[in-house]
Amino acid sequence: MKNPYTVLTAEEAAELINDGDTIGFSGFTPAGAAKVIPKALADRAKKEHEAGRSFKVAVVTGASTGDSLDGALARADAISWRTPYQSDKNLRKSINEGKTEFFDMHLSALPQTVRYGFLGKFQWAVVEACDVTPEGEIVLTTSVGATPTFCNTADKILIELNRFHPKGLHGFHDIYEPQDPPHRKPIPIERPTDRIGSPVIKVDPSKIVGIVESNLPDESGGFVAPDESTLKIGKNVAEFFAAEMKNGHIPSEFLPLQSGVGNIANAVLGALGSHPDIPPFEMYTEVIQDSVISLMKEKKVLFATGVSLTVSDEVLLDVYENLDFFRPKLLLRPQEITNNPEMVRRLGILSINTAIEVDLFGNVNSTHVMGKSLMNGIGGSGDFTRNAYISIFTCPSTAKGGKISSIVPLVSHMDHSEHSVQIIVTEQGVADLRGKGPTERARLIIDNCAHPDFRDELHGYFDLTKDGHTPQTLGSAFTMHQKFLETGDMRGVDWR
Ligand code: COA
Repeated sequence: MKNPYTVLTAEEAAELINDGDTIGFSGFTPAGAAKVIPKALADRAKKEHEAGRSFKVAVVTGASTGDSLDGALARADAISWRTPYQSDKNLRKSINEGKTEFFDMHLSALPQTVRYGFLGKFQWAVVEACDVTPEGEIVLTTSVGATPTFCNTADKILIELNRFHPKGLHGFHDIYEPQDPPHRKPIPIERPTDRIGSPVIKVDPSKIVGIVESNLPDESGGFVAPDESTLKIGKNVAEFFAAEMKNGHIPSEFLPLQSGVGNIANAVLGALGSHPDIPPFEMYTEVIQDSVISLMKEKKVLFATGVSLTVSDEVLLDVYENLDFFRPKLLLRPQEITNNPEMVRRLGILSINTAIEVDLFGNVNSTHVMGKSLMNGIGGSGDFTRNAYISIFTCPSTAKGGKISSIVPLVSHMDHSEHSVQIIVTEQGVADLRGKGPTERARLIIDNCAHPDFRDELHGYFDLTKDGHTPQTLGSAFTMHQKFLETGDMRGVDWR
């Protein structure tokens, strides 16, 4: 049957959107993000602004997107508010300058928050797909994110039919939306490999008001080769897990792994893959990165389920050339399922995420530099950390050429509290905080994880106060941060 949908240009699609609309865009780090309609929307916003008219939209996605969405719309000053996560330099600037309102959310909670109506009415879902049938069955591309919820809750749907992605992606997605309370039932996943939903999003075809054709790759940045520090962090994590298997804390068949975004996460996976004592494992994670694909080919990763396939172009083309090999091994799910606290607890996930800074008591800041400038957002790190079987945070012990210590007396912003954080790993070593009180934690973190340049300084802070369950000296807790802001270097604080 011929497709009944109207084919539009991106500009025609952008013309349908009004100032003040709320749009749910497909896209997750930045796999599967809408590209041509947001870019056209940014051009339209610029023209409206030049004509003296206001034009801003609210932008909601699965997670971060590419330059054509967050970048273009931020440069056009066209985003009124944004949630739940971003990693674009233009948008970050707009948020930190107070031009765009941003609220940071746990990614698992976003879809239900939309369904409950807490974010108001959604006029549009703008969705990248590799196929759409006359019956309203949408096959997504490299991510699922919150797209099923956007399609079900928005008044109208615009589809970017992106020919870069093969229709053979049908079968790589498992679309399932839980019912809302008081009717919610347990999510019926007992193993990472379990399929519980549909390979397509099913919508009323009359909601699809237009299709825009495109042929564009994802705008993923790719990965830099691991350096000495990230390799050491990876090795430390792998050795920690090997020891946990030896002492019986982790069962011999291992447990499903979640690993965060970015270069450290990629290097950690590489180290796990090459460690002789870590058996082949499964991943129940948020983002499937390059290293997972190579480990799959080496039979070290047996199966991976996540929200997105966020890989470099060359790795994606490799997957597309070998769809039959990867089909039984890769499964993309909504973020509401991959990151769901219920699933993370039930499956016993080993979680590994990255910190910006960690304090002496195990509190972690993942989102704000010097307590005030947003970097990206909490993403799924809280979903996994709070509920993990073992929760790990990694980071290099210093930042900015050694002038900043990532280990600080007190975090300048807190995303993950001491109650959820179990293990800290830097290139210096590992601090196992399980079963330890604040004083023991502080000594372990300083001696095992801080950079030698900062150990005396951190001990100096800790020695200022001898009493209290958590010895904290409020008047000095941010002296190292303050010194960096005044001199550009945290080293050399005189505590007297
Ligand atoms: N103080 C100031 N700046 C710091 C810093 C600190 N303590 N620690 C890191 N930075 C800066 C780095 O210098 C770098 O800056 P640049 O972009 O100007 O070079 C930037 O933060 C990123 O750090 P980098 O070391 O390159 O690590 P990364 O790319 O792995 O990112 C996070 C680290 C924490 C920002 C990133 O992992 C993140 O956004 N995490 C939150 C979301 C998350 O965990 N998602 C996964 C859940 S599944």
